[in-house]
Amino acid sequence: MRSNLLLSSFALATNAASFNPLHHLAGIAPTWKPHNPPLDTKPPAGCNATKAAYLVRHAAIYGNDFDYDTYIEPFVEKLAQSAQDWTAADSLSFLADWTPPNEEAHMEEITRVGTNEAITLGVEVQERYADLKPPAKVWASSADRTVRSADGFITGFTNNHREEIDLETVPEEENTGANSLTPYKACPAYSSSYGSDQSITQTYQKVYTRPIIERLRKLAPSFNFTRTDIVAMFELCGYETVIRGDSPFCSLDLFTPAEWLSFEYGNDLMYFHNTGYGRPLSPRLGYPWVRAVTDALADGSSAQDLYVSFTHREVPPVIATALGLYNNSDFSGANNPNLTMPSDRINYHRAWKSSEILPFLTHIAIEKMECGAEGYHDGDYYRVLVNSSPQPLTECRDGPGESCSAGEFLRFVDERGAQFGDFGVACGDLDAPGNLTLYE
Ligand SMILES: *[C@@H]1O[C@H](CO)[C@@H](O)[C@H](O)[C@H]1NC(C)=O
Ligand SMILES: *[C@@H]1O[C@H](CO)[C@@H](O)[C@H](O)[C@H]1NC(C)=O
Ligand SMILES: *[C@@H]1O[C@H](CO)[C@@H](O)[C@H](O)[C@H]1NC(C)=O
Ligand SMILES: *[C@@H]1O[C@H](CO)[C@@H](O)[C@H](O)[C@H]1NC(C)=O
Ligand SMILES: *[C@@H]1O[C@H](CO)[C@@H](O)[C@H](O)[C@H]1NC(C)=O
Repeated sequence: MRSNLLLSSFALATNAASFNPLHHLAGIAPTWKPHNPPLDTKPPAGCNATKAAYLVRHAAIYGNDFDYDTYIEPFVEKLAQSAQDWTAADSLSFLADWTPPNEEAHMEEITRVGTNEAITLGVEVQERYADLKPPAKVWASSADRTVRSADGFITGFTNNHREEIDLETVPEEENTGANSLTPYKACPAYSSSYGSDQSITQTYQKVYTRPIIERLRKLAPSFNFTRTDIVAMFELCGYETVIRGDSPFCSLDLFTPAEWLSFEYGNDLMYFHNTGYGRPLSPRLGYPWVRAVTDALADGSSAQDLYVSFTHREVPPVIATALGLYNNSDFSGANNPNLTMPSDRINYHRAWKSSEILPFLTHIAIEKMECGAEGYHDGDYYRVLVNSSPQPLTECRDGPGESCSAGEFLRFVDERGAQFGDFGVACGDLDAPGNLTLYE
């Protein structure tokens, strides 16, 4: 009897300890390394990295306009006006003396935590490619948060000798077509509201917040919790953590693991239909970067060994679709993307997890390697890394460590181009520049 009790409390403790809400916050997740699948992140035995191209989302910010206006501000204002006595409200009692982080004054700016993480990424990338020629240039789309993230990266990479690398800012405009780091902004067919509409995100939000609302209304009857309040509290866990270092909203006493997973799935649905497989436009927006860096890496006389560019959260997921990564339909023999993401319940075994694809400072890289590996032909191989973890291409794994031989990789990129290289047509703007020429 006694040992059973001990066992079950041990199981409870390890369960709680192994669940980290910060790994389920989608676009508000502090930078992390999911390492899924857990393949070795170093080049396989017998291989050396000879070139690489990185596309990085900016580091952590205080808040974005949409999240703040839709969820956080209404919640924080309601809280300030509420007569609810929180002191006896159990898991909500921290609200008696909680003060909101000052998001409004710093909207869209990167936080100190974010700056620090951008510097660390610079250190990590320098260490990983210490044998390569350091880059002469790093690129950033022109928003303050992307430029500052690139700046932090350069500081870390050069150990504070910033003058060693030029930071080239790339305008975020509507008339540049595919020739920028923000192709979605120059694509008339793209809308930032895809996926956040009534029929998808709100439908699922209503499903998962209903029991939470009931529970919290019992604890705090005069606050009248609503759907958007609940979403605000999940989001505050992420934003407060990247502003202050931690947040009482991340407590597992407040929301259970199942509830955190619901919040994550709600976001995954939104991104799936906004910049993922739920929208045929997505790979068309991601393809120009894949084409441009493949050309740069394949070119023996390219100007740089390392190409690093900073942009916004829309871009890593569209590049993932252009490369066929995180495709829920893989190996199913069918292609009905929407069926893989129902909006009334969670598909727990989906490949499409935005917390892994687009957390703050997420980075997607194509790495070229020279290999003399046992059991393989000597030569060049390519692989894709997301947040340092290899993501084997479904269509090409003939190399060491699930990498792809150069000939097959170039063929693969050409084939993707034949399917998805129609930026102008897909965007409804036939005059738009269809290629990214930044790295030429
Ligand atoms: C609670 O909030 C809902 C949704 O905003 C509103 O319709 C309702 O009138 C509110 N109830 C009270 C008692 O304030
Ligand atoms: C996703 O996978 C399905 C099944 O293999 C495939 O038919 C479809 O083309 C893939 N989607 C993309 C954008 O690669
Ligand atoms: C998938 O869902 C999106 C968003 O509702 C819709 O626009 C699209 O037509 C759907 N695709 C298919 C093949 O039904
Ligand atoms: C990798 O680099 C090391 C050190 O520069 C060198 O000794 C080795 O021959 C290289 N291997 C390949 C396959 O290029
Ligand atoms: C883009 O480059 C490809 C060659 O890589 C070329 O065939 C195509 O015409 C170019 N498209 C545009 C719109 O310039």
